[in-house]
Amino acid sequence: MLRFENVGLRYGLGPEVLRDLTFQIAPNSFQFLTGPSGAGKTTLLRLLFLALKPTRGLITVFDRDMATLPKRDLPSLRRRIGVVFQDFRLLDHMTTYDNVALPLRVAGRDEASYRAEVVELLGWVGLGDRLDALPPVLSGGEKQRAAIARALVARPELLLADEPTGNVDPQLARRILRLFVELHKSGTSVVIATHDIALMDLYDARRLVLHDGRLHVYE
Ligand SMILES: Nc1ncnc2c1ncn2[C@@H]1O[C@H](COP(=O)(O)OP(=O)(O)O)[C@@H](O)[C@H]1O
Ligand SMILES: [Mg+2]
Repeated sequence: MLRFENVGLRYGLGPEVLRDLTFQIAPNSFQFLTGPSGAGKTTLLRLLFLALKPTRGLITVFDRDMATLPKRDLPSLRRRIGVVFQDFRLLDHMTTYDNVALPLRVAGRDEASYRAEVVELLGWVGLGDRLDALPPVLSGGEKQRAAIARALVARPELLLADEPTGNVDPQLARRILRLFVELHKSGTSVVIATHDIALMDLYDARRLVLHDGRLHVYE
């Protein structure tokens, strides 16, 4: 589904943050991406989300070579990838329902065709009674789950989440992890960036470990 070959990334004229990355993300796979703060987890997620171009090496996404991909084809590839950003990026003036429905509205779908789906998804993440709440009144954990619902609403084939349990208590972290595991069992590939060892110990999964700019894979 996604393939990196000898990928390197530097910001501007700085040192290489990521070096010689060679690995794959298979369809319907689950992996943690880990490493200490500053190791390059967010940078690697940006490469996976096609928000950054590598400074060297080859990235293939859904069988398309990123180096020769016409810019106009990027949005359609990106729509197949859902992202949960570390800072949520919810729009404060829109209800939780509208935030989650936004990707579908932007894609030009008619509300009558998706309302029930969005309500069901919000129920699944435990926000069934928060549809009309504005993000500023949501708790940290509720915002987190709204951001997860928004990333899932367009049914991505690949879900990327950046420290999705960074701001929640251990009990909620377990619940969020269960959502990702269920999602994986329903056929989605999942990559969770985290430095939370306790979280990774809860689920036996492939680990991509960043250290000194290089990636080590533990199957
Ligand atoms: N936009 C940027 N410009 C320059 N350097 C950056 C930028 N973003 C991240 N970095 C640097 O890249 C390295 C990896 O950062 P990051 O990917 O955020 O790591 P992590 O998510 O693992 O904490 C750090 O040294 C960080 O300072
Ligand atoms: Mg980070």
